[in-house]
Amino acid sequence: MVLKIKNKNKLKIENKNSLNNSNKSQDDIVIECKELNLWYDDAQALIDINMKFKRNEVTAIIGPSGCGKSTLLRCLNRMNDVIEGCRIEGEVLFQGKNLYTKDADIRLNRKKIGMIFQKPNPFPMSIYDNITYGPKIHKIIDDKTLREITERSLKRAVLWEEVQDRLNESAMGLSGGQQQRLCIARALAVEPEILLMDEPTASLDPIATQKIEELIFELKKEWTVIIVTHNMQQAARISDYTGFMYLGKLIEFGNTEQIFENPNNQLTENYITGRFG
Ligand SMILES: Nc1ncnc2c1ncn2[C@@H]1O[C@H](COP(=O)(O)OP(=O)(O)OP(=O)(O)O)[C@@H](O)[C@H]1O
Ligand SMILES: [Mg+2]
Repeated sequence: MVLKIKNKNKLKIENKNSLNNSNKSQDDIVIECKELNLWYDDAQALIDINMKFKRNEVTAIIGPSGCGKSTLLRCLNRMNDVIEGCRIEGEVLFQGKNLYTKDADIRLNRKKIGMIFQKPNPFPMSIYDNITYGPKIHKIIDDKTLREITERSLKRAVLWEEVQDRLNESAMGLSGGQQQRLCIARALAVEPEILLMDEPTASLDPIATQKIEELIFELKKEWTVIIVTHNMQQAARISDYTGFMYLGKLIEFGNTEQIFENPNNQLTENYITGRFG
């Protein structure tokens, strides 16, 4: 045994009746990488990545700095497109359709696949305007609907109680943990299918981190979460599946308990026991 997973059962209690993963079929795969390769100019950053992400599950991606975690996450909603010199081969199938075709609707796909970054990045505007920004882009203009979306999104992100009396105040006045939950609420406001999170608690204190972890656990009832984290305990606590990456390759991918308690690959074991990285 490599790492005993503590606290996981505590978080799992409410989720007792969820489907047994092993019974899940191909239909439960919401997004999938097939033979995905990526280069930044001549340097290859992703090598033959094959990975399937299940609906309503949390998948953690772990691995040492520079192994390609953020690059992989960005591939899942075509955020690497804006990086000059970046070239991609292979497929990312979202609900069965390749994101990387000429006729793929990038704007719609970005709405369906939201991203949360390491550093909370609220827009320098009011809390209300942050939440309604996305819906307005998608042509929702009715005030009543926008107010409903704001309340619903903030409640889903467990921030409503703290901000309901200050919706017109600047989002920049919120604490770091509140700002990160605001960013999650902003992503939820456009009704995504998947939330990509790149080290979402790396800049937060332990209390704010716990709130985000509890929130992620709630979110998976309705959404699929893919999270990059350097925190092994966090990956073990909140994820159903874990993928370990090293030097651009997916070395091992499986059930979180198996990865942390009984990894198949020596590199995985070395990493999660802190022997490198
Ligand atoms: N915009 C870019 N241009 C050129 N090379 C890049 C770019 N972004 C990342 N890389 C390179 O690609 C490789 C993978 O980087 P990536 O940021 O995906 O790693 P990571 O696993 O997220 O690391 P960390 O844990 O430090 O965030 C690294 O060698 C990095 O230097
Ligand atoms: Mg990164």
